Amino acid sequence: MNAMTFEELIEHKRDGLKHTVEQMDRIVLGYSAGEMPEYQMSAWLMAAYLNGLDAEETVWLTDAMVRSGEVLDLSSIPGIKVDKHSTGGVADTTTLVLAPLVAACGVPVAKMSGRGLGHTGGTLDKLESIPGMHISLTPEQFLATVRDVGVAVMAQSADIDPADKKMYALRDVTATVPSIPLIVGSIISKKIAGGADAIVLDVKVGSGAFMKTREQASELASELTRVGHALGRDVVCIMSDMDQPLGMAVGNSLEVVEAIETLRGDGPAALTELCYVFGSKMLVLGRVAADEAAARRLLTAAITSGAALETMRAWIAAQGGDPGVVDDTSLLPLARCRRAVLCTSAGFVTGFDTEGVGRAAMLMGAGRATKDDTIDPGAGLVLDVRVGDSVALGDRLAMIYAASEDLLDSAEERLLASVHIGSHRVKPPALFHAL
Ligand code: URA
Ligand code: CA
Repeated sequence: MNAMTFEELIEHKRDGLKHTVEQMDRIVLGYSAGEMPEYQMSAWLMAAYLNGLDAEETVWLTDAMVRSGEVLDLSSIPGIKVDKHSTGGVADTTTLVLAPLVAACGVPVAKMSGRGLGHTGGTLDKLESIPGMHISLTPEQFLATVRDVGVAVMAQSADIDPADKKMYALRDVTATVPSIPLIVGSIISKKIAGGADAIVLDVKVGSGAFMKTREQASELASELTRVGHALGRDVVCIMSDMDQPLGMAVGNSLEVVEAIETLRGDGPAALTELCYVFGSKMLVLGRVAADEAAARRLLTAAITSGAALETMRAWIAAQGGDPGVVDDTSLLPLARCRRAVLCTSAGFVTGFDTEGVGRAAMLMGAGRATKDDTIDPGAGLVLDVRVGDSVALGDRLAMIYAASEDLLDSAEERLLASVHIGSHRVKPPALFHAL
């Protein structure tokens, strides 16, 4: 068959036709190699967004994305390498807790993480709030750190899944992010290129997630699992709630503090439980526990013995950071201006616009509005309330932290609009949803 031009490939998908594996390779590899220009890829992405990709095409897309760059070779690290990824949430400090926690239990953690996206936080930004911490490691430093202390987290290098990097940036500005086949390709290709043997995915659903309904999130979860399996990886998906922030802290250094408290056994209940559930899956997949009950006992022991905190100290030190932050969190940056946000009516917390809570933190500098914005590592907020709590007039809803009073003003307004107060008590949303 004669190769189609890029224009013909766009036309093919525009007309709702199915690509062959060769055509999919041509699109993905052609784009990542710079042969297909951005305007043509934008058109193809929109055609794929509108007409969809079928089961085979989604597998071919993902596989081509993996082959667009190098696959990290983790074989010099003994054991089964289990990676965990969240589709993105608010006050989701899980990775900062899980990385040292499961490492302390004997599962090696060799993780590439991303920066915050939109209103959601990113592990790299949180880690960088620790004084001295480096996240740009060479592959050699990365592997050596995992071998020495059991855990390393680094930024995705340019050689790994370049197709995802380029496609993601384009999707972000062409209104083609919330497409299930495109999200599946992005997540699974990145995890495979990162060298994972097994993958645990936290598929977030609710007002703070990219998938706002349970039906969408459930379809995303089943596609992530199917494509992972088709490409020979063990994938476990869990659907978890984003109708309220997971933890209480939103903002980079504030989330590091919350992670340390959780590793000490003093974390918020929902965040702690989520870490137990994901940690258990990781220990079972990593074959250091026979079942989830045994895994939970190992996780509990690592927290109560202080082993998890010790691993956190060793990990921070190995990546150039000040391990003293684990014992004295006042060594972390905290924005100079602070304010208590008070409840303007009495009643019950009936719900959150969780994305709005994330955006309130972003307004203070905890996240980026554009790719080139700089982050204020000490900005953010700590909530005092959860759905179902009763509140009186003047009760504190949150503390907010920013570099100026003006920033506090806009964040306070956004936050107040994002915490819904009503006259009847409602049941808090379940932390997990059936797939
Ligand atoms: N997270 C990713 O890594 N990719 C997507 O496409 C969406 C969320
Ligand atoms: Ca995240």
